[in-house]
Amino acid sequence: MTDIDTTDMSADDWDELNFPRPETSDFDNVVEEALTRRGFLGGVLAFGSGAAVMGTAGVLGTTSAQAQSTSRFAFKPIPIATDGTVHVPEGYSWAPVAKWGQPLFSDADAFDPATGHSAANASKVFGENTDGMWLFSIDGREVIAINNEYANRKTNLPYAGDAAGTPQSLEDVRLLQGIQGVTIFEVAPKDGGGYDIVVDSPFNRRIDHNTPMTITGPAAGHDLLKTDADPTGTQVLGTLNNCGSGPTPWGTYLTCEENFNGYFGSTEESQDQKPVQLDAGYARYGIGPKGWGYDYHKWDARFDTSKTPNEPHRHGWVVEIDPADPTARPKKRTGLGRFKHENAAVALARDGRVVVYMGDDERGEFMYKFVSDGVYVPGGDTENLLNEGTLHVARFNADGTGEWIALTPENTGMEPAEILIYARKAGSAVGATTMDRPEWIATNPVAVEGYCCLTNNKNRGIKPNAGGDETPVNGPNPREANKFGQIVRWFPRDDDHAAPVFDWDLYVMAGNPLTQEGAYKGSSNINEGNLFNSPDGMVFDSSGLLWIQTDGSDRNEGDFEGMGNNQMLAGDPVTGQIERFLTGPNGCEVTGLCWSTDRKTMFVGIQHPGGSFPDGNGLPRSSVIAVWRDDGALVG
Ligand code: FEO
Ligand code: CA
Ligand code: CA
Repeated sequence: MTDIDTTDMSADDWDELNFPRPETSDFDNVVEEALTRRGFLGGVLAFGSGAAVMGTAGVLGTTSAQAQSTSRFAFKPIPIATDGTVHVPEGYSWAPVAKWGQPLFSDADAFDPATGHSAANASKVFGENTDGMWLFSIDGREVIAINNEYANRKTNLPYAGDAAGTPQSLEDVRLLQGIQGVTIFEVAPKDGGGYDIVVDSPFNRRIDHNTPMTITGPAAGHDLLKTDADPTGTQVLGTLNNCGSGPTPWGTYLTCEENFNGYFGSTEESQDQKPVQLDAGYARYGIGPKGWGYDYHKWDARFDTSKTPNEPHRHGWVVEIDPADPTARPKKRTGLGRFKHENAAVALARDGRVVVYMGDDERGEFMYKFVSDGVYVPGGDTENLLNEGTLHVARFNADGTGEWIALTPENTGMEPAEILIYARKAGSAVGATTMDRPEWIATNPVAVEGYCCLTNNKNRGIKPNAGGDETPVNGPNPREANKFGQIVRWFPRDDDHAAPVFDWDLYVMAGNPLTQEGAYKGSSNINEGNLFNSPDGMVFDSSGLLWIQTDGSDRNEGDFEGMGNNQMLAGDPVTGQIERFLTGPNGCEVTGLCWSTDRKTMFVGIQHPGGSFPDGNGLPRSSVIAVWRDDGALVG
């Protein structure tokens, strides 16, 4: 979700006015240590703007004329854009595949460019605000599971609500609840390039804020998860604020609940003053009496914490969905912990145990790793792999090492289920490293290493996190008031994702050599040709090329001069070279990436575009687009 307070004077901004930045700090030394540790980035100095760009060794396609190049990129980098459409390199094309409100079923009403669609139509059309996604090959068919993260109320309720899109009725709330969650839809290639939705496919399905699902794992059935409607604490309606995602080796889809807190509020004044007394966990998770303007609580008592105080505990989890079975009930996997989940990057340990890396996207929160007890056996029973295991949290040391600390009753002072329900508090108890908003994590398919986008954190070195943990500049978060973001990576010891110890460095520090000084210029693999800010989405392709998507300021002035609209870049993990591949329309963030089965098409998400993208008239529509090479070569 876009960091909206970069453009609006938010509560955080007001806070910072009251807490001015300290005048001195030691962050320059911290930066230097982080960058030089592995000696990698020094070599990147050789790359300048417009350095060798046409690929050779990579799988993106080669020609003999390119044979002298050392670059793996099979595209000519593109300049920034500041307009209302998508741009891709010469020799590539793009076209929309699925737009908010586009029918999945033939009995859906057509989308109205001026008013969108009705609440009744929501279950029959593609959802709003596309985010994480993955394409599954199922019996020779191509099925995409994709998150619909949040609602743009002004766009989704242009006439039903007030000027701000505030719901005025239960029906308005039902519309918002119905356009979020997850969409599962079959796609098929079109003649001449691109893909279409297969309308009425038996795989097509909407999962929204009211879809029945099961709570599984160690916290299922705990008193904190029980409500009047569900005294078992195991049955819940809906998955909320589905941000990033990740596929599992056994063909399921993990959708991750991020800013679930924003949907809850209270109709009782007293909570305004004393939310902590009602539930000690509310404050740490940002659950307050007013919510974020969805106003569900005024119309739907399930979201009114004065009436259903445990409902917030039933959200903030990772949810496993089987895209091959449209009747399968989604399962919330409590073993993976409860926090503001960005995505879930699944890898296998050397012995076959399942490792899930996860970030908690909030200023000063943590990175986590789950390690299963059981091992993955292809074709074997996978039901309990994500239920039985150990949640760990990351601590980064200044010497370039780090450790995954297992969260246990002994070191947290918490009961096992509470460790999961209040994972943030458990992380604080063991001294986890406060991070600059961990967004997507990706693991390299051709090397044992992980990468995490730390998108930005203007509170770094200035304010503690919501739990009161201090956020001094530290190894992987080396810049005070970090407005540009960086990507940290780690190398598990013994090339084993289950290892408790790792070595780490910074793959890139975004910055601006045009307008900034010192560390704010960015690392040496940042140049005038690849400027960006706020890395967020991140996915490796099958060749081991790292695709980086941004969700930052597109003002293109001041600190962000020369960066243009949000974008997608490709990074070479070995050389550090990063080049711009795609630019999005004004207002959007670029998020979500997957490939067709034949790897000749990439699917890219364009979330919350401005203007009238992509139709050119009427309401803007968050969309999935297809990108392909005109010569039919591989794109991943
Ligand atoms: Fe939904 Fe942290 O992005
Ligand atoms: Ca973001
Ligand atoms: Ca994100």
